[in-house]
Amino acid sequence: KTEIGVGLIGFGTVGTGVARVLTENAELIRRRVGVPIKLVRIADLDITRDRGVAIPAGVLTTDIQQVLTDPRVDIVIELMGGYDVAKRVMLDAVQRGKHVVTANKALLAVHGEEIFAAASRQGIDLGFEASVGGGIPVIRALTEGLAANNIQSIYGIINGTSNYILSRMTSEGQRFDVVLEEAKRAGYAEADPTFDVAGIDSAHKLTIMVSLAYGTPVNFKEIYTEGITALTPLDIAYAKEFGFTIKLLAIAKFSDGEIEARVHPTMVPSASQIAKVDGVYNAIQLVGDAVEDVVLYGRGAGSMPTGSAVVSDVMSIARDVLKNATGRVPPASYQPDQRRPLRMRPME
Ligand code: HSE
Repeated sequence: KTEIGVGLIGFGTVGTGVARVLTENAELIRRRVGVPIKLVRIADLDITRDRGVAIPAGVLTTDIQQVLTDPRVDIVIELMGGYDVAKRVMLDAVQRGKHVVTANKALLAVHGEEIFAAASRQGIDLGFEASVGGGIPVIRALTEGLAANNIQSIYGIINGTSNYILSRMTSEGQRFDVVLEEAKRAGYAEADPTFDVAGIDSAHKLTIMVSLAYGTPVNFKEIYTEGITALTPLDIAYAKEFGFTIKLLAIAKFSDGEIEARVHPTMVPSASQIAKVDGVYNAIQLVGDAVEDVVLYGRGAGSMPTGSAVVSDVMSIARDVLKNATGRVPPASYQPDQRRPLRMRPME
């Protein structure tokens, strides 16, 4: 093969970041992969808006089928979000033997088991680095970098929108609704921002991390989830007075053979590292039995950071395609036959 063809479905905030990274870093990507990666098709309902990135004529379409059926497309990037259509698109791509990259944590958290199984049957690659932590390579950390460890705990801030809101409420005493509008304008929030502020997005991401860390399919509904919508500037001010900062944390612990996973606002000492994670930044502490603690920190949302994660998956799949070595799904740490229920335990 002399090039790898990519089809993008969903040309919004993240899709634009993907197109920009592929265009602006095309030369280094070609050098690192060995052949050029070409964006040959982009499908979106709106193909007239200027996204500030040059797209050659004939690439844009409003018809998803044109992406799925294009023989030049080796890898489909699903960035449309949502459940039903995105799932059909992904399974259709898999059936056609196309590799898939997605940032769709909601879909993976709810239907991941079925999607992994379909991908595994077809021997295709499925990349989802962008599904957790935006630009932070946390999926690779869990599946590769820390693969030799029993993961003892996962702890951190994994929703940029709610952290942005809490940070602004803390530093400026801003009202919740005002800051949410800003987070939406910056392109951090989900299409339905309830997912961000109700803790659901964090629970989706925690579901994915727990599945990989403990090798078990997880039902995200089993994760105790509480968001930040009920917090007032007064709560934040009181916490501050006592030397605490309120953060929305996602926590998973493994002890006595049981997994406990939860998402809720937590008072953390204001002098601690985690309290200083501001704005759209995410921070994830992973503790492994051999490595001890590892902290990953970076932009957890946004166009270019998330684009960076998506393109890293495209590049690693492209290398597999060139070596005829695809089929790295599910990751070795994930064993669907070892299902373990979560211990339901809300806040301590
Ligand atoms: N809405 C998500 C967030 C985007 O705010 O973190 C990144 O997954």
